[in-house]
Amino acid sequence: MTIAPKPGVLDISVYVPGRSEAAGAARTFKLSSNESPFGPSPKAVKAYESAEPALGLYPEGTSRILREAIAAHLKLSADCIVCGNGSDEILHLIANCYVRPGDEVLFSEHAFSLYKIATFENSATPIEVPEPKLVFDVDGALKRVSERTRMVFIANPNNPTGTYLSAPEMRRLHAGLPKTALLVIDAAYAEYVGKSDYDPGIDLVNASDNVIMTRTFSKAYGLAGIRIGWGYCPKEIADVLNRVRAPFNVNIAAQKAAVAALADQPFVQGVVKHNDTWRALLTGEIRKLSNSGIRVDDSVGNFLLVRFADAKRAAEADRFLMSRGVILRGCASYGLPQCLRLTIGSENANKAALAALKDFAES
Ligand SMILES: Cc1ncc(COP(=O)(O)O)c(C=O)c1O
Repeated sequence: MTIAPKPGVLDISVYVPGRSEAAGAARTFKLSSNESPFGPSPKAVKAYESAEPALGLYPEGTSRILREAIAAHLKLSADCIVCGNGSDEILHLIANCYVRPGDEVLFSEHAFSLYKIATFENSATPIEVPEPKLVFDVDGALKRVSERTRMVFIANPNNPTGTYLSAPEMRRLHAGLPKTALLVIDAAYAEYVGKSDYDPGIDLVNASDNVIMTRTFSKAYGLAGIRIGWGYCPKEIADVLNRVRAPFNVNIAAQKAAVAALADQPFVQGVVKHNDTWRALLTGEIRKLSNSGIRVDDSVGNFLLVRFADAKRAAEADRFLMSRGVILRGCASYGLPQCLRLTIGSENANKAALAALKDFAES
């Protein structure tokens, strides 16, 4: 006899990470996980190394140095910040603290797959909002709100679509939710957005008692491997999360590296500038391939969603690119089997991806 897990757990499809190997290719370009081609600031690497003498000791349990650094940088209260082993952990933590069996959790059809996992993990019901234009549909979401709605997850910008909601639209979404529902704004890619009508969620958190924003050092700060993210929320919610959070959830090297990464803003600005340049360039060049049925929408993140005529064509493109060592992310698990997601990488990787896409389009 095997012991049954909580209802919902067996409905979870195991998270599929981006692939990192292209068998047989002499050189590979990993553009499948939205990582930064620059990695972390050298100052963050130094800070990471400085953790060595403390490796035998438990880290300070509340990530105080990092909460204080984030608070100073963004003018927030450190008491309202909770750090985690990646923002993934914070997203799980929020759901584990607030979602009850039978609750409904709303997110969009092509949202980041963790939201569904966090829903099923708590024996709740996912309500997927159709996203025909590949942008979060505020009216569609509000139409599906019921007295059982406990949480709304929204990635802003969204992965893998690369689209975003403006601050007024996000406020409209929030205004339509019942006070008993939490709005979780996952702003993992906030640093890359250059739109004047965008807000990562800070203003809405400050103005409400049922909004949480999550952020990460995995993307623009280039620290995905060390796992460090955070959430910003009302103090009462931080107090709840801190009861359930593992006592030493952020290791000492991650705390130190993230503090140093945050202090090196010129480095991050360079990363964002590179992304701006290549995002525009790649978008323009891929649009020239539209005769062969390849399409790309505007993205505000560090990735592009490349659409093909159908799932078969996307799979052929994937194989072709893999044979050239260019590894993209298949999007079937996001409900978009006709798409491949391309992370904006180094100059060499971007050129290799573009050349391979062009050759595929002509093949
Ligand atoms: C929308 C979104 N949220 C959260 C995460 C998780 O990031 P972290 O590395 O901080 O756990 C990702 C990672 O790909 C993401 O795309």
